[in-house]
Amino acid sequence: MGLNPFENFPSSPILTDLPAETASIHRDEQGMLRSRKKNYIFRYDPPTRIFKLTMLNEEVLSGQLRWVDTAPEISFNLAARDRVFGLGEATGQPDRNDQSFRIMNLDTLLFSIPGSSYASFPFFIVKRQNTFTGIFFLCTFPLRARIDSATDETSGPAVRFQVENGGEEFLYDVFAFSGSLARILDEYTRLTGRPALLPAWSLGFHQSRWSYKTKEKVLEIARRFRSADLPLDAIHLDIHYMDSYKVFTFHPRHFAAPEEMHRTLQAQGVRTVAIIDPGVKIEDGYKTYEQGKVGGYYCLTAEDSAYNGRVWPGPVVFPDFTRPEVRHWWGDAHQDVFEAGVSGIWNDMNDPVLWMNKTYDPLAEDIQHAAGSHRRFRNLYANFQAEGTALGYEKHRSAERPFILTRSAFCGIQKHAAVWTGDNHSTWEHLRENLHMVINLGLSGVPFCGADVGGFASGPGARGVLKIFKNKELFARWIQLGSLMPFFRVHTALLSYSQEPWSFGEEVLAIARKHMKRRYRLLPYIYRLARESHESGAPMVRPLFYEFPDWDHSDDQFMLGSSLLAAPVLYPGQTRRPVHLPPGDWYEYETGMLYSGNSQHEFDLKAGYYPLFVRAGTILPVCAAERNAEESLKAGWALEIYPADTMNGFFLFDDLKTRSSATFSQELEGTRLHNGDLRLRVKNRTKDAELPLQERTLRLPAMYRTMIDKGQRQDGESLHLIREDRNIEMQSFKVGMDEAEWEFPYTSNW
Ligand code: NOJ
Repeated sequence: MGLNPFENFPSSPILTDLPAETASIHRDEQGMLRSRKKNYIFRYDPPTRIFKLTMLNEEVLSGQLRWVDTAPEISFNLAARDRVFGLGEATGQPDRNDQSFRIMNLDTLLFSIPGSSYASFPFFIVKRQNTFTGIFFLCTFPLRARIDSATDETSGPAVRFQVENGGEEFLYDVFAFSGSLARILDEYTRLTGRPALLPAWSLGFHQSRWSYKTKEKVLEIARRFRSADLPLDAIHLDIHYMDSYKVFTFHPRHFAAPEEMHRTLQAQGVRTVAIIDPGVKIEDGYKTYEQGKVGGYYCLTAEDSAYNGRVWPGPVVFPDFTRPEVRHWWGDAHQDVFEAGVSGIWNDMNDPVLWMNKTYDPLAEDIQHAAGSHRRFRNLYANFQAEGTALGYEKHRSAERPFILTRSAFCGIQKHAAVWTGDNHSTWEHLRENLHMVINLGLSGVPFCGADVGGFASGPGARGVLKIFKNKELFARWIQLGSLMPFFRVHTALLSYSQEPWSFGEEVLAIARKHMKRRYRLLPYIYRLARESHESGAPMVRPLFYEFPDWDHSDDQFMLGSSLLAAPVLYPGQTRRPVHLPPGDWYEYETGMLYSGNSQHEFDLKAGYYPLFVRAGTILPVCAAERNAEESLKAGWALEIYPADTMNGFFLFDDLKTRSSATFSQELEGTRLHNGDLRLRVKNRTKDAELPLQERTLRLPAMYRTMIDKGQRQDGESLHLIREDRNIEMQSFKVGMDEAEWEFPYTSNW
């Protein structure tokens, strides 16, 4: 019998909301272990080691425990055509079927280690036709995962996890969830933590490279964005901003007086996100190192001396984030960067990388944590560091919503950080994987994620950081895809050509501007989606089957929330692509043309165009595209009405950045009568926040030329959206922000 792996912790580092009661297990007459609660029965047969879980009279899960070469293995049975999703950052294909890989946080070295991954999520979702089951195997040890479809007499298809516990015995919990995907993710994130509430700026565009090496360069980049009329929220400061790669420092010459730089950036509406790696340079007199040494905060060897590794700064020590006092100290240590004016924190190399330029097995290293072995806590290292960073925000930026970005992660990371998918390649294959990774992260409870737009490296292996050949088409298509991803950042490697939106010539710049501005115009919708994720764990980017469980065609199309469906361009030289529209009616976003669903349509793919649809029945809140997210979200409010028999939408405004912000929210509803007339109603839900605007515009299809408001008729103005890169003529009506009921008579001769 094993032990509870978190026995010595005051509370579970992963679970935020433990199920109120755990079932007691008893042995029945047949020797079977059983536990029964109101809505489930769990049975385990010791001789065969087979377990079954029945929920609400339906068997949702059965499997077996075995020992394979002395390591425990747990398998979960599948049926022949089941598809497996989730499990974090999937590479290679949209689902996880027929794959084997290791669940252990590891620097993939530019994706050159097959089957490896930066982040670990032993949580998966089985799609069986139109039903779903979620399984969370709470085990922090590295796992060998295999998803086989091989069917033979004795073993059917299964998801198998072999626990690499190195002989350490613990109890593992298995949590099973069933119902709709929304319900599974709601319950799973209730258990492991709701996604953090994001500051609005983090939903804007981020520009990064390894590295903008001087503050003059950072300021030049910001100026260039402004002069090129491109929205921008944040510039990322990669490792060169530091003094000899010492965390929590600025380079004395290249980044002298960082407060001044931040003041200039602030005037341009631009923030920074600074990279903070876990390795602390061993250097006498260096404040952070000395503090950690005095406090005894570093990971130790078996002989109780500080474990030394080697990363960017040379020899380093690693804070033992499993200890609460170390997390508090680490949080405090952010004071200097926060005082300098940094807004967001980017945690990299937190797998953690113990050695650079050397082949080594992290599990064979003599590195220990106060809480237990590195093998047991490696997969949690990044989560603990992110928690320390979050404590830093609580202390030094107590009113503000944190923005933390992380490369490595384990289940539950969503409480603290957004995840980016690491060092991808500038290839079409990785562009496609960007989409699948984001979808699977969303189905693993991490809604806020994205990949390096444009690609980071040229390929696998050490030479991948050298990127010479620009591919205009790839960048242009990637920025289109990236503009609908939850986290939207361009980033590139050390020895890469420059990868700002203007680096590929005028044509690509114009395409980038169009899609970046489109992203900003959609921010009221995206911001509300992020809030929904925070409240219920719902992914922002969703496979089609999230909304339409009976509908396939999810591999190269996706939903952003429940109202937008995108069919991105994922192959070079593609001039046409099919779009499989699920049931319902769909309005093409650029032309306003109406397509009926449950059907397939072909679209021409001009440069700068990919098919994007608004689901009929949507009331879409939009704004003006200004310099950054906050300015946009406070300007040019409009509600676009996409008629259907019933319509709905939501309008949300708050102060966009503080934790305890007051909110103003409204529910929007409507119906279409038999004669085609529309009736819309606005109802206040909360009314606490001060509004920067007192009016907004309603945008309707051209056949609605008048509006009746409290008995008064108002003629609409015709509005061509060419300035928004859309070839649509709409009718617009100015209205206030109060509760209201409007009617729009249908005009047949428009
Ligand atoms: C590895 C990260 O994945 C990458 O994004 C970063 O640019 C380099 N480290 C340098 O900090």
